Amino acid sequence: MARIAIYSVKGGVGKTTMAANLAWCSASISRRRTLLWDLDPANGSGFMFGIDPKKKRDAQSVIDLDRGPGKLIRKTGITNLSLLPADESIRTLDRQFGRIGKRKRLAKISAQLDKDYERIIFDCPPVLNEVSEQVFRASDLIIVPLPPSPLSTRAFETVVEAVKQSSKRHAPILPVLSMIDMRRNLHREAREANPKWPFIPAASAIEQSAVKQQPVGAFAAGSPAAQAFSKLWTAIERKLAQKS
Ligand SMILES: Nc1ncnc2c1ncn2[C@@H]1O[C@H](COP(=O)(O)OP(=O)(O)OP(=O)(O)O)[C@@H](O)[C@H]1O
Ligand SMILES: [Mg+2]
Repeated sequence: MARIAIYSVKGGVGKTTMAANLAWCSASISRRRTLLWDLDPANGSGFMFGIDPKKKRDAQSVIDLDRGPGKLIRKTGITNLSLLPADESIRTLDRQFGRIGKRKRLAKISAQLDKDYERIIFDCPPVLNEVSEQVFRASDLIIVPLPPSPLSTRAFETVVEAVKQSSKRHAPILPVLSMIDMRRNLHREAREANPKWPFIPAASAIEQSAVKQQPVGAFAAGSPAAQAFSKLWTAIERKLAQKS
């Protein structure tokens, strides 16, 4: 059982794309029972699998201990892969967590799902508030996508600080260079400066993945982009194995 957050305080860095594609790798390559949990009210992960939120807009009820997420979980059509979609109601999740006053509420709710899912992947909103704090405390590994730019480096430093402050024994953080284009100097330098960090190339197959509403591995299995996600997933599994 492991929970993996795809998180950055910065928007548009490739979190949702990475979360959806890694969830696919977990379900289809590792054949693990996997839940992709969308915590961003924009429901980007749902969109990536062509799943609309229900009209009732009750995604916020997932943090209610009595109700839990069970009824909201949907099948994706991909074996082993389920999705907990988001909707606008979770815009107030931050305040709700605050009102409940339990620092580990998300961890507790997630633990209730451990019997059904071997891997839970959180697609996080770009916020630094009680939602991110709850995610840090609920996760076994925190993946931070970083497009090569000074601003994302700053964002990464902010994330490391926030995770450290969230609890004494916090989850390990794995930075991943995202949207790398080796024709660009800045991108090459970022790779050379951090040769051990996994990376995902900037690729039209990845852009297409949002258009087709399918993970790259499902329609372009042999592409460099699909291979990069698969390699990243292997690195994640290795890191989780070291931890346990
Ligand atoms: N490796 C990549 N190559 C090319 N395009 C990419 C890549 N990763 C993400 N994109 C594109 O960049 C845009 C932003 O990606 P995405 O929505 O995954 O970011 P995000 O961090 O989840 O954003 P937000 O903070 O708004 O939730 C999307 O149009 C996506 O298709
Ligand atoms: Mg997103």
